[in-house]
Formats: sequence, structure tokens, C-alpha cells
Amino acid sequence: MQTSAAAGVGCSYWPCTLPHCSTLGHAGRRYQAGRLTKAQAIAEPPTGVSVEFEAVPNATQFTEELVADEKKYIVQTYARPHMVLTRGEGTRLYDAHGKEYLDFAAGIAVNSLGHAHPQWVQAVAEQAATLGHTSNLFHSEPQVRLAKKLVELSFADKVFFCNSGTEANEAVIKFARKWARKQAGVDPYSKDATAPYEIVSFTSGFHGRTMGALAMTYKDQYKTPFSPGLPGCHITPYLDLEKAAQVIQKGKTALVVVEPLQGEGGVYAATADFLKGLRKLCDEAGALLSFDEVQCGLGRTGHLWGYELSGVEPDLMTLAKPLAGGLPIGAVLVKDHVAEVMAPGDHGSTFAGSPLVTHVAAVTLDILSQPEFLQGVQSRGERLRKGLREGLQGNPHVKEVRGQGLINAVQLDTAAGPVVEAARDAGLIVITAGKGDCVRLVPPLIITDDDVDTCVDILTRVINEKLG
Ligand SMILES: Cc1ncc(COP(=O)(O)O)c(C=O)c1O
Repeated sequence: MQTSAAAGVGCSYWPCTLPHCSTLGHAGRRYQAGRLTKAQAIAEPPTGVSVEFEAVPNATQFTEELVADEKKYIVQTYARPHMVLTRGEGTRLYDAHGKEYLDFAAGIAVNSLGHAHPQWVQAVAEQAATLGHTSNLFHSEPQVRLAKKLVELSFADKVFFCNSGTEANEAVIKFARKWARKQAGVDPYSKDATAPYEIVSFTSGFHGRTMGALAMTYKDQYKTPFSPGLPGCHITPYLDLEKAAQVIQKGKTALVVVEPLQGEGGVYAATADFLKGLRKLCDEAGALLSFDEVQCGLGRTGHLWGYELSGVEPDLMTLAKPLAGGLPIGAVLVKDHVAEVMAPGDHGSTFAGSPLVTHVAAVTLDILSQPEFLQGVQSRGERLRKGLREGLQGNPHVKEVRGQGLINAVQLDTAAGPVVEAARDAGLIVITAGKGDCVRLVPPLIITDDDVDTCVDILTRVINEKLG
């Protein structure tokens, strides 16, 4: 039996909008989630609440058997640690032994509201009990409601829904190819027609694992075993406008895809000048500009959109990870001049934009887009970088602490894997990025100052001990 370290810190859902939560802390949430009666919740004190998580019976045997079965029954595309996560609450995860972890990975920047957020749980339950899936053959109110919110909050005029980041980028490629055919004045349905189709993307960029998105992705290791890839894809140095100008060409380029802040590539931010320069090059070449905000969008940088501060508007933008707080969703936001080239039957998806997922996304987006919520992401990000820089000062193996809002990296002069493992042993879940030399910190956006301080304590101790 394990006692939650969250005990005594009050509510970790921030800002929590449950009226009774500020007085009841965790007990309020557990009541809301139906795990406590109201009387039990009220009986618990507001602070010093002891939240106990029971280990799975025979936790060691359970873990051994499950890990063995995973090897036996699941295609081995992941190297997973020898532990089984069985439960999550707020910013904490628990394994089968009841061991608690502070979650600074958030399911790879997905669990924007943390785990089992009461409003998210309620949204899932209420929509699942009302109407879960209809297919896109029918109208659905939550889908339209979410699209309207996204349009009102962004540069876009219309939205296309899909199920993941890679699918969103795949849709962008199709939109751009058809748009280029229309611009070239050819019949898009003619097999003999030709039009610009080349795509330009950037070093260290990551756009997904399906064949189109993969071709725009930088790392050869992800692509070579599956070659040949999509033709006409050029990868040029990130932040180098002169080199970009050499490959973005009128009559050839249909699409330029860029992350305003690269996540998987090592947490590198584009400058406003770079994005402005790309906009100009695209306009001159008659190509579309698409921002991939699958990881950096929706509040992660402390701004709703990663592109926001640059003052540059793209023609398209892809979103996914945090949008539905953990349910699978992808979205392409587009201007009308792109949307209008697409006709019924040109693209589609059975599952995309279901009432269940879009209702949960609409509830999640309402929370993520609150100005005070975004302000909190910025201030916790600053606190995190300051704490890490102070704690790691003078460590010769730490090259840089960088990031924006709550997407941050500690770049080392060596592999980050052993640090990630040691941090996990010490109760902190983080992941790698870059060339495997970065510790990536992408926590739930609801983290508190206390969570930040706990992360700083553990990570600085682990790095200084391992790499002192
Ligand atoms: C910037 C970016 N684009 C696209 C993707 C692919 O998203 P998904 O894994 O949902 O297909 C990712 C995933 O990490 C990403 O970080």
C-alpha cells in the first residue's frame, strides 16, 4: 500500500473549477469521480488528505507475466521499461506495486489535463452515455461545436478532423496536392494532369510515421527500412532561410511544412524572422505553408498557438496530441482558399470527429484556452527552467536548458537514456528527445508550483549524481 505524495498539497488540478474542490482537495475529486460518498469526502480534511493506492495483488508476478505476454502477443515496435502503469490521478501515475511517479511526460505531451481530471471524466461519461459514434455520414453537434471553437480561436476558416498527428499531416499533403492542381488550372481528376507536388520540410523535424508524414520527417532511421518513400520531398536546415530559398521553387513546390517549435527533434524554437521568411518564400513560389503544431500547439508553449508570437499566419495547421486530453484526435485547420478545393469523397475517415471525442475535446479546449490557464503555463515553465538552470549550474555534462512554457529540454553531452531511467526509479517520468541526448519535459499543463519543484529536485539530483 502506497500513500500518495500528493497528500497534503491540496488540489493538483489547476485551475480547478469544481466548486467544492478548493475546500475538499483530493477528496472532492474522488467524490466527483464517484469513488467516495459525499459524506466520506466531507469527512476528509482539506489538506493532509491521505490518498492511498493499493498495489495490484501479487504485483511482482502480475508485472512479470504481463511483460512476458507483451513480448509474446504485441509487435515489438517499442522498448518499454519493466513496470506496468495501472492508475493515474492528476499529475501522478501509479504502477502495479503502488509506486507513485510524478508525470512529466504526459503520454508524450497528450494528457494536457493530467489523469482522470473530473471535468474530462464527466465529459467522457456524459457523451458516451448520449451518443458515442455516428461516422461522418451524419451531422453531429459536438463535431460542429468543436470546429467552431477552433476557428474562432485561430487563423483558420474551417477544420478537417482525423485521429492522430500523422493523419493530420497526411491530410495536409492531399489538400496541398489538390490545391496545386487547381492552381495549375488542370483537371484534378485527370490522370494525365501534372502540377507542382514537391514538399519542403526541415532538419530535426518530426511529422509522423505514415508514409507521407514519414517522408517529411528528418531521421533516416525512421525511414530507410521502409523506402522508397514519397517522391519530391526535400529536407533543408531548420532556421536557415538562404538554404530554404534554394529548395522552395515556383512551379515545383506545393507545400512547406514546419514546426514553430520542434518537440521530438530536441525542443528548438523557430524565430519569428524564420517563419516570416518562409511565409514570403511560399507566397513568391505559390506554395502552401503548413504549421505542424501537433506537439507545440494548444497551450503547451504558454500561448494557445506556437506560431502566435511570430505574427505569421499559415495556410494550414495540424493539431492532435493534447486536443482531447488523451482520447485520439487529429485536426487540420485551414483557410478557405484551401478548404474550397476539397470535395465530398476526396478524403475521409470512419472514426474521425466522433461525438464522443469531439465533445471531450471541446471541454478540454475550453479549459486550455483560458488566458489565466495559459499564463500559469508560462509562469510554471519559467519556474522550471530557472530551477533546472540553478540546480545544474556548473555541471560540465549539461549543455543547455531550453524551452517555452511547458515544453522544455535539458540537453546533455551524452545519452539521456540512463538519466531518464534513474529519474523513473526516483519517481519522475520524463522522456528523451533530439539525438537521444535531451531529457524532454512535457508535463500535464495542470502542474502546480510544487510539482515543478519536485521535478527540479529529482532531476537535478539524478543528473548531478550520474553525471557530476
Ligand atoms: C510535431 C509532431 N507532428 C506529428 C506527430 C505525429 O503524431 P501521432 O503520433 O499522433 O501520429 C508528432 C508526434 O510526436 C509530433 O510531435
